[in-house]
Amino acid sequence: MTRIAIVTGGTRGIGKAISLALKDLGYTVAANYAGNDDKAKAFTEATGIATYKWDVGDHDATLAGVKQVEADLGPIDVVVNNAGITRDAVLHKMSFDDWNEVMRINLGGCFNMAKATFPGMRERKWGRIVNIGSINGQSGQYGQVNYAAAKSGIHGFTKALAQEGAKFGVTVNAIAPGYIDTDMVAAVPEAVLEKIVAKIPVGRLGQAKEIARAVAFLCAEDAGFVTGSTLSLNGGQHMY
Ligand code: CAA
Repeated sequence: MTRIAIVTGGTRGIGKAISLALKDLGYTVAANYAGNDDKAKAFTEATGIATYKWDVGDHDATLAGVKQVEADLGPIDVVVNNAGITRDAVLHKMSFDDWNEVMRINLGGCFNMAKATFPGMRERKWGRIVNIGSINGQSGQYGQVNYAAAKSGIHGFTKALAQEGAKFGVTVNAIAPGYIDTDMVAAVPEAVLEKIVAKIPVGRLGQAKEIARAVAFLCAEDAGFVTGSTLSLNGGQHMY
């Protein structure tokens, strides 16, 4: 049986690696994106993975986007909530908009995607939801009250929904990546990033494909006993 998967923010960074890993394992993948249409088109041409544009922070757009994927590909079996943004600033410089956008997209996106897909998984008695949290939702991070709160919220969301899905064969898990070699981390000021990397025991940034491997494990047919868990992949930076 071919499983249908949606990866949000699935055309770049960690999301791209997840889309590719699931495709390689035989899933039919829809990669959601919110940004550049030309880049998404190039992604589809290079990978053969269909792309769908909507803002996961927009409730109605998410319901409509998922409906379109289902019309094109079939009922959704797997959701990877990966889409996320940063708006880093110390609290006294952070605007309400910086706070709200990060909460709306990073945490609200998980709710919107679950509303669009969880009821169907529950009815069909099989599903996999993997939410991408963060080391910074576990440990906090200077300059990230918005992001840390949203990612910490994702960890709570995961444990709550896991309890609702358990008897219906729907697992809900989180991954907490540390600092991964992506555009998001590259945007951290160089001097700050150097200090962060110096605190990673394995001595390097993680690779997106290392996160994708863990996501693939959680999505597998035989991973049905793993639910409500958070898998930390951070090079030993935070042992939790
Ligand atoms: N702990 C303690 N103090 C710190 C600090 C830290 N981690 N980082 C900065 N400071 C201090 C600085 O030393 C400085 O102090 P002095 O004025 O006494 O020298 C003061 O805070 C101001 O620092 P900046 O000059 O950097 O201030 P800024 O307003 O220009 O920028 C910032 C602040 C936006 C928080 C910037 O430091 C920054 O971008 N930090 C990185 C935040 C980060 O790690 N983001 C992660 C992004 S990747 C991601 O989120 C993915 C994931 O899941 C892991």
